Amino acid sequence: MQEKVLILDFGSQFTQLIARRVRELNIYCEIHPYNSTKFDVSDFKAVILSGSPHSVRSELAPQPDLSQIKGKKPLLGVCYGAQYLAHFYGGKVGASNTREYGRANLSYIDTSDALFLNISEGSQVWMSHSDTIIELPKHYKKIASTHDVENAAYKIEGEQTYAIQFHPEVYHSNDGMQLLENFLVNIAKVAQDWTPNCFVETTVAQIQEKVGKDKVVLGLSGGVDSTVAAVLLDKAIGKNLYCIFVNNGLLRKNEYQSVLEQYKGMGLNVKGVDASARFLEALQGESDPEKKRKIIGRVFIEVFDDESHLIKDVKWLAQGTIYPDVIESVSVTGGPSATIKSHHNVGGLPDFMKLKIVEPLRMIFKDEVRRVGKSLGIDANLLGRHPFPGPGLGIRILGDITAEKVRILQEVDAIFIQGLRDWKLYDKVWQAGAMLLPVNSVGVMGDERTYEKVVALRAVESTDGMTADWVDLPYKFLQETSNKIINNVKGVNRVVYDISSKPPATIEWE
Ligand code: XMP
Repeated sequence: MQEKVLILDFGSQFTQLIARRVRELNIYCEIHPYNSTKFDVSDFKAVILSGSPHSVRSELAPQPDLSQIKGKKPLLGVCYGAQYLAHFYGGKVGASNTREYGRANLSYIDTSDALFLNISEGSQVWMSHSDTIIELPKHYKKIASTHDVENAAYKIEGEQTYAIQFHPEVYHSNDGMQLLENFLVNIAKVAQDWTPNCFVETTVAQIQEKVGKDKVVLGLSGGVDSTVAAVLLDKAIGKNLYCIFVNNGLLRKNEYQSVLEQYKGMGLNVKGVDASARFLEALQGESDPEKKRKIIGRVFIEVFDDESHLIKDVKWLAQGTIYPDVIESVSVTGGPSATIKSHHNVGGLPDFMKLKIVEPLRMIFKDEVRRVGKSLGIDANLLGRHPFPGPGLGIRILGDITAEKVRILQEVDAIFIQGLRDWKLYDKVWQAGAMLLPVNSVGVMGDERTYEKVVALRAVESTDGMTADWVDLPYKFLQETSNKIINNVKGVNRVVYDISSKPPATIEWE
């Protein structure tokens, strides 16, 4: 049995980061909302309590029942978790009167305590809280302080219960990983057996057991997630996996042919469906971004549905859903957050397909998907591909879409992306692409006045697409790329580079 760690989520923005760090230690963990009834504590070897935007002193404060955990299993409270364990067991938590955001250093450490093995005084930690633990309950022992925070870490005597006010999961807590390792491996004795190979082995066995001799259909997108899901399923059920790769006419230049060839070369049972004309026809005259997304989503489902009906007796639909899409988030405001863009992925296929769902990647993070892909022998170029939105160039052509505009943008994009590869910049950039603007500008070529399209190039750094910053590409590179585009792509006479961060801008222009 795989040993696992429970992370009880109180709505902190860092909860997923705790899970990723634990997984980096090759330890399997799951995040569950503090008030969920969908898990059984007895399945877990140790528990971590996350931070929270709430104050323990507020009426809205999460108040989990820890009677099956505290004193019974190794327990680590982080930030709110630490305050909760102090406040509700007789200590005193109050508003802090000094600044407790950002960098701090551990000025005192009980170096004899196992939690601080290989961590020395002065170690930098990251704080993010407005309350502070003023007084610890009886039998609680302070084991670290910073200049401003007296009770920066404590333990409960006679229990394997620890708590820290700072965030070990963030990059700026220099010994954060060491601390998590000390707690999970040395104190809680959790096995470090969560590796890509063991994931592949257990997932293949699970798929075989779940699906048996049934047929499974999967939509390949050319992206990392669907590819890794396909290779895993192929390993488990071979030719009973039917992959469909749809050309929506909005892919990158030559991408349909080259990715299809690559999939075939990998031995996947894949069928290419060129539905470009169908998509372009449905999109004709539409310039509203959300409506374009909806049309592309609807036509994709129609094409996919038509194709899967051609597979006799198919029972399952496989999807490349990953863990961040699955984790139920604890709502901080109580209400749904505003829709900024309705990101459609292949997910959410309608009920009429009557297929059961298999999602082999639903418990792993993107970086783990790549590690698993590597251990499955998938080409590094394919695993390192930039994210590309489902609606493809459809949301990079501002305004209405025509075949000619797609051609122009494909040419521009190909020059830009090839340039990034030639200049060894591709892997330094998280995502890059070109936008075709719905304006013409005046130019001069030879002795002729021109009145042609403007394109914007965009390259961003990010970790998850939630926030992003523009990349400071070398001027020489931009100069060369701009020249190549204007000299080679008929219909474009001006190139600009987007220097907006997200927020307030977004990565895509639509
Ligand atoms: P934004 O533009 O919201 O993009 O900053 C964040 C990330 O999401 C991708 N994106 C999409 N992906 N369907 C998708 O599958 C969509 O409609 C969509 N819109 C944006 C975008 O490329 C970036 O990686």
